Amino acid sequence: MAGISRRTFLVQCGVASGAALLGRGMPASSSSDLRARLAADPLRPQFHLMPAANWMNDPNGPIFYKGRYHMFFQYNPNASVWGDMHWAHASSPDMVHWKHEPVALAPTPGGWDRDGVFSGAVVVDGDTPTAIYTGVLPPDLPADATLKDGQHAWREVQCLAVSHDDDLRTWQKLPEPVIARPPAGLMITGFRDPCVWREGGEWRMAAGSGFAGKGGAILLYSSPDLRRWTYLNPLIEGRGSGHPSTNPVDSGEMWECPDFFPLGDRHVLLISTMGRVLWKSGHYDGKRFTPQEEGVVDFGAYYAQRSMLDREGNRILWGWIPERRPEAEHRAAGWAGAMGLPRVLSLSSSGELEMIPAAVVEVLRGTGTNVRGSEAGAKKKVEALRISGLAAELQIECAADRPFSLVLGEGDGSRFADIAYDPAASGNELRINNTQAAVAPAHGSPLHLRLFVDGSVVELFANRTAAVTERVYRVPRGPLQISVSDLSALQSLDLWPMKAISKDRLTG
Ligand code: FRU
Repeated sequence: MAGISRRTFLVQCGVASGAALLGRGMPASSSSDLRARLAADPLRPQFHLMPAANWMNDPNGPIFYKGRYHMFFQYNPNASVWGDMHWAHASSPDMVHWKHEPVALAPTPGGWDRDGVFSGAVVVDGDTPTAIYTGVLPPDLPADATLKDGQHAWREVQCLAVSHDDDLRTWQKLPEPVIARPPAGLMITGFRDPCVWREGGEWRMAAGSGFAGKGGAILLYSSPDLRRWTYLNPLIEGRGSGHPSTNPVDSGEMWECPDFFPLGDRHVLLISTMGRVLWKSGHYDGKRFTPQEEGVVDFGAYYAQRSMLDREGNRILWGWIPERRPEAEHRAAGWAGAMGLPRVLSLSSSGELEMIPAAVVEVLRGTGTNVRGSEAGAKKKVEALRISGLAAELQIECAADRPFSLVLGEGDGSRFADIAYDPAASGNELRINNTQAAVAPAHGSPLHLRLFVDGSVVELFANRTAAVTERVYRVPRGPLQISVSDLSALQSLDLWPMKAISKDRLTG
């Protein structure tokens, strides 16, 4: 999905519309006008990472390096629509509070990434931080185009850049790509978004790809030095939807943004295709990956994931929260996209991917209120709760064996978020507004919901197995109120106001 709609934006808006610049080539007054407008936009998240203005998509190369977290991400510095991809850079002491750093990688005019610095990874090679990413450029021959989405025909090559400063602020690119073309003789549907790791004394790379008419696939490479790469074989081959589409990402014949890592006693592969992030857990024999279990990482607006290890060695997942409103609206708003909160990954005993928000997010909590469904006056206490400024965390435990619903609204019947749980709705047990999700059975334990409201972003986690990121473009007239369908099913409700990570909603 991501592909076709975003690339359409580029065509429609021409290059760098100039309507939404922040401090670049604009008179200072217009730039401060825009700042003021963004800082006052109630739909703009306040505790999710995002650029100060303009468009962002995929997280790239997140890494903990020399005591700080670094996040790079797909960024259009000139407009709040997709196009002219750069790597933006932000750094953080804790994965929650971010500081914007100078753009890390920009397309080199006339270079192999002249039409875009696409997604990739950062690894530390000895003591040299090294970025491996996809560069796109016009093909010399039509047959060289590996990205064909109905809007563009691009050649995709894998490029390398190194940094020699501890803050990862400056990068030097190799003049030539490290992989100039995909393996010969394969009818591939794309060749991008390298994921790189160290294995048995050499480097490995998994590149997003697929086979025309068949399905998505991941191409596995090895290298002694990150510069000379040998293609080994497909790490895994999948099946598409069987409904061909102009953009192979839409039919599942192209898997974007592979992320492959050991977790527990298995390996996990995450891929993005058909608008969703999917997980597979299974066995990796050093050449091929055989999935045993699989599922959906997030049923809502969440795409182009990438993981990293935090300072304690936990596997942390990041993902891009795309917009769900018409392009004209986010173009006018001057910003588009946000980064999901950090999520800690683990595997259940049966190999299901589990996911919880990283504990560090709790530093943003203000003073909380707890209500127990069984306590005297519980009804009045719930009715008195207020969410101000669309910034809150809500935690709920309720009976898992009966229907339950919760509305965040304005008290006059107008709803901001409407969450319903029905254990009998097999495969669609949970719903938030119009988005449905499957929640694995709780086996006697209560249903545990965690909800983060941040402007137009609502991240909902159910038990440890389901997540839904919902977009709500509704500005309430005042604080939100909470109502629950059945107080007797409610065991416990906690509400915290959440603090902004910057004073002016511009992040860091
Ligand atoms: C996923 C994606 C990647 C690509 C990047 C370009 O959202 O399409 O495959 O590298 O975005 O911005």
